[in-house]
Amino acid sequence: MPQDAPRSLDTLPSYEPEALEAAFTTLREQVQTEAAGLHGPGTGPNAGPHARQDAAEQFRLHWLGRKQGRLKALSDAWLKAAPPEAKRTVGQHFNELKTAIEQALATLESRGATTALASESVDITLPGTWPQLGAEHPLIKTMHEMIAVFERMGYSVGVGPEVETDFYNFEALNFPPGHPARDTQDTLVIAHQERKPPRERLLMRTHTSPVQIRSMEQQPPPIRLVIPGKVHRNDESDATHSPVFHQIEGLCVDQNITFADLKGTLDHAMREFFGPEVRTRFFPSFFPFTEPSADVQISCPFCGGQGCRKCKHSGWIELLGCGMVHPQVFTNVQKKQPAYDPARISGFAFGLGIDRIAMMKYGITDIGLLYGGDARFLEQFA
Ligand code: FA5
Repeated sequence: MPQDAPRSLDTLPSYEPEALEAAFTTLREQVQTEAAGLHGPGTGPNAGPHARQDAAEQFRLHWLGRKQGRLKALSDAWLKAAPPEAKRTVGQHFNELKTAIEQALATLESRGATTALASESVDITLPGTWPQLGAEHPLIKTMHEMIAVFERMGYSVGVGPEVETDFYNFEALNFPPGHPARDTQDTLVIAHQERKPPRERLLMRTHTSPVQIRSMEQQPPPIRLVIPGKVHRNDESDATHSPVFHQIEGLCVDQNITFADLKGTLDHAMREFFGPEVRTRFFPSFFPFTEPSADVQISCPFCGGQGCRKCKHSGWIELLGCGMVHPQVFTNVQKKQPAYDPARISGFAFGLGIDRIAMMKYGITDIGLLYGGDARFLEQFA
């Protein structure tokens, strides 16, 4: 708004009709010029609706403001000083000037309001905005599918703590302090526990096997459980190793459970999960808490056992560790649950690394992708 609008008219040359006509014509022209100037940058057709409304309000204050408006100043100066015979004509001129100002203002305001409406209106013909739907992580999906296989065989699902005592993670599973097998499962230990006896010190569990002990302590046999969960190891990250990964533990204890039951159960579960053509084979292995122990391989589901890059051209892929529950483990549990008498009962246990199974199932070549949180990777499995 021009603050320095010409003030030469603040004193009228005379109250003669021609002089009045000329003065008011000039004023009406000023009104038009100023209103038209509001098309300028920042208030023009491309300006936002708020900028346009602000400009209209400034225009109104400049001309019609009650205290400092130009119309009031002029009428105070000219109308009051007008000789009686000119008052009527001066009054009419003021009315016309006021009407011209109001019309210009109405035009400005309606333009601002129209722009505001246009920018705020909703185009109902546009497609809607869909919220992005989440999807099950491929790891969790694989875990649920594997659990479902065992649920169909009558297994229940158990859970246990991720922060575990040395006793449950190692000692009760027949890894006494200093046992060399502990070195294969180095982990993170919780700080500031030096005053506790070693078996009570806390660590991040290195496998889901401690939940075998916790579950047996809580319920007498028979027991058929799968225990999924996150585990931690001091392993360097590479394409197939992660310091945090997931396992599913299996435990079956009853009278007369034999190695044949273990073989039949895992053979059936692998066929259910990978397809009916998949075969299993068992190799001797060692775990302190199972005797005998075995590593299980499945025929490569990608090449049908012919040999390919995924099975390193051997036709077989190693998948899990298992074995018959060691009698010493039952003896350890007996302190809390006497029914686990190794002379009367027997059982088998197994432990699957779920990350590598998910990698095989979905053709994922780097385990790190499962933990990177990259939505572009994850949405492929939605
Ligand atoms: C165990 O952890 C035993 N608790 C399994 C078991 C249970 C044996 C019950 C007998 C009876 P192992 O250390 O081999 O075993 O680990 C089991 C699986 O975890 C491996 O086959 C592998 O698939 C997976 N795994 C081990 N380390 C890693 C790692 N750093 N990253 C990803 N997966 C891993």
